[in-house]
Amino acid sequence: MHASNALNPQSPQARAIYDLGIVSTIVFVLIFVAVTGAIVYAIFRFRGREGESDPKQFAGSEKVEIIWTAIPFLIVVFLFVLTLRGMNQADPPPAPSPDLVVTGHQFWWQVDYPNSGVISANEIHIPAGKPLSVRLESKDVLHEFWVPELTRKMSNVPGQPNHIWLQADKPGIYIGQCSEFCGTQHAWMRILVVAEEPSKFEEWQRAQLQPSQRPTSDAAAKGLALFQTSTCINCHAIRGVRGADARVAPDLTHVASRKQLAAGILENTPANMRLWLKSPQHIKPGALMPDFNLTDEQLDQLGEYLSTLR
Ligand code: CUA
Repeated sequence: MHASNALNPQSPQARAIYDLGIVSTIVFVLIFVAVTGAIVYAIFRFRGREGESDPKQFAGSEKVEIIWTAIPFLIVVFLFVLTLRGMNQADPPPAPSPDLVVTGHQFWWQVDYPNSGVISANEIHIPAGKPLSVRLESKDVLHEFWVPELTRKMSNVPGQPNHIWLQADKPGIYIGQCSEFCGTQHAWMRILVVAEEPSKFEEWQRAQLQPSQRPTSDAAAKGLALFQTSTCINCHAIRGVRGADARVAPDLTHVASRKQLAAGILENTPANMRLWLKSPQHIKPGALMPDFNLTDEQLDQLGEYLSTLR
C-alpha cells in the first residue's frame, strides 16, 4: 500500500486522462515559450536607441492576421479532438446493469455487488484486468468517489446515480478518497481498492458470501449477545444473526476480514477494534457512531466477537 498518486495511472481509464494532461501540458509549455520568447526577443532586438527615428508605421496585414487566427484555431481543434478521444477512453457509457454499486454515507462507503450479493464497506475487491461498471449513489449529502490511480473523479449525488468504470491493470492496493467536502469527517472517507488475480477474487467473493462466524468462545458469545441487546443492532447488519439486518451503518458480517476500520482511520487489529468500540467519538469526532460507555468487560467481549468475523 502506498499513497495515491494521480500521476501514476494504473488503468486504461486513468491513463487516458493522464496522457491528455501530458499532451496538453506540452502544448501549453510550447505556446508559453514561443510567446514569451518572441516578447523577450522583441524587447532587446528592437529597443529604441539614441538618435534613431521611429520605425516605419503600418496598419493591417491580411497575411499576418490569417496566420495568427489559423494557428490558435488549429491548436484548439487538435486539443478538442484529443479531449474527445480521452473522454471516450476514460468514460465510456455504463453497462446495462452495474457490477458494483458504491453508496456514499457520512462518513463511509457502502459497497454492493448486485450480481453476487456480496456487501462490503470501504474496501472494494476487484479482479485485476477486468473493467467493472460502477453505479455511484449517496444516502445523504454530496460525496465524490476518487481513486486517482484508477478512475476519474465522480460525484455521488443523492437521488441521481452517476457512473464510472473501475479497472486495475495489475493486482495491488489502490487508495482512494472522498473528494467532495461532506462534513466533519470528510477527510476520513478512504476507499481501498484491492485488485486481485481473478481466482483470488473469486475466493474472496465466496468467503464474503458465507454467513457470519458463530461465536467459538464464551466471551465471543457474550459479545454477540451484547450486539443483539444494545444499540449496535439498530444500525449494523451481521448475516446469520437474527434481527441484524439494518443497513444504516457498515455490514459487519465479515468486518474482521477488512484491512481498516472506520473508513481508513485505524488499521484493523483486535486492539484497534476495542479502541474504536471504546470511544468512536474520540477517534472520529462527528462520526454517526456514538460513544456507548461500555465497561472494560463489555469491550473485551464485543471486541472478541467482532474480531472473529473474518
Ligand atoms: Cu464524503 Cu467527503
